[in-house]
Amino acid sequence: MLSNKRIVLGVSGSIAAYKGADLASKLVQSGAIVDVIMTKAAMEFVTPLTFRAITHRPVVTDWYDSSSELSIQHVQLAEEADLLLVAPATADIIAKLALGIADDPLCGTALATRAPMVIAPAMDANMYDNPATAENVAKLKSRGAVFAGPGFGRMASGLIGHGRLAETPEIIATVRQVLGRHGDLAGKHVVVSSGPTEEPIDPVRVITNRSSGKMGFAIAEAARDRGARVTVIAGPVSVPYPFGVDIIPVHTALEMRDAVFTAARACDVLIMTAAVADYRPVTAVGRKIKKEDMASLTIELTKNPDIISEVKGSFIKVGFAAETEELLRNAQSKLRGKEMDLIVANDVTAPNSGFNVDTNKVTIIERSGEILDLPLMTKDEVANKLLDRVAALLTSPSGRPAKAGTP
Ligand code: C5P
Repeated sequence: MLSNKRIVLGVSGSIAAYKGADLASKLVQSGAIVDVIMTKAAMEFVTPLTFRAITHRPVVTDWYDSSSELSIQHVQLAEEADLLLVAPATADIIAKLALGIADDPLCGTALATRAPMVIAPAMDANMYDNPATAENVAKLKSRGAVFAGPGFGRMASGLIGHGRLAETPEIIATVRQVLGRHGDLAGKHVVVSSGPTEEPIDPVRVITNRSSGKMGFAIAEAARDRGARVTVIAGPVSVPYPFGVDIIPVHTALEMRDAVFTAARACDVLIMTAAVADYRPVTAVGRKIKKEDMASLTIELTKNPDIISEVKGSFIKVGFAAETEELLRNAQSKLRGKEMDLIVANDVTAPNSGFNVDTNKVTIIERSGEILDLPLMTKDEVANKLLDRVAALLTSPSGRPAKAGTP
């Protein structure tokens, strides 16, 4: 996604400038070409050499450096940039960007570029809360700048409040989202269910499964990075939620059903990656079951609703089938039985495939009968292969199912 994207990273004078080095490093590792511009104040905290070593490219620090390989840097960098990222952005830089002042190479580049701008503020809480900063932030947002953070928490001063530089994954997610906003899913609403469900036995015990939520989150991030608005209905998971998407946390299958039915009323694509518990205890006991009470324990279970079968509407319906045997036959029968447009058959017996790993071995089967057998891939790659097929169905005249009646 960031491969060969040209990102100009503006670093201004905050104690968080050292985190800019981690950000630059992660951007470079993702394949981006990163040109760093530092303000004079930033150089009080970190040296240009740090960024040069990380990016393997010259670092711009001065308007007037006649020996620079990048003479008239602000014009050149501004023209070539796919995105300008200012991180950390101090109150001072934000004010200058809002006013259009161009007395340093960073502000000059910001004024000269037509590339989208992402700003990650870092300052003391009182400075961020000051109406002057609030006005400047609002002005920049109204001109299309996208803000990542700031986060809430403890700052270098000891104050607790808003002003912490957003964490690197959030900033990178914002960059990816902004770069992809005119992608092939722009204007589409994609709903993804993810993770396991949890069915209570008593206040401390549940019936659940090994689904990690990783596949669903990878699809949500990939859809976001192709321009979609994304809603994730997430069962209880321990992996972090993706940024830049709406999250609806649920626990039980019945809660997931309600959330899916509501979200599906206004969606273009529904992707059910969730491993929904097939059964739940008939009654959840109100107090903790004590082992002294009985020598053996029988829990009566009742069947949960099959969400994907029940939910109907004129959206593309995608399901997953985690199988241990008869992969294709079982998946094809689920595709037909549950009236899906496409199913991702997931061989959970293949090495490094399925639950709780970062890779997956899948076969994508379409209602038309088309079969795409993919090799072992990262879940991000699987997500994009799947969305390629979804995007094709969205544009094909016969792809869009004409199904009556939204729940
Ligand atoms: O569990 P099974 O293999 O039948 O799941 C196939 C598909 O059906 C998956 O996409 C899963 O999310 C969905 N499903 C559902 N409601 C259930 C069980 C499964 O929507 N109760």
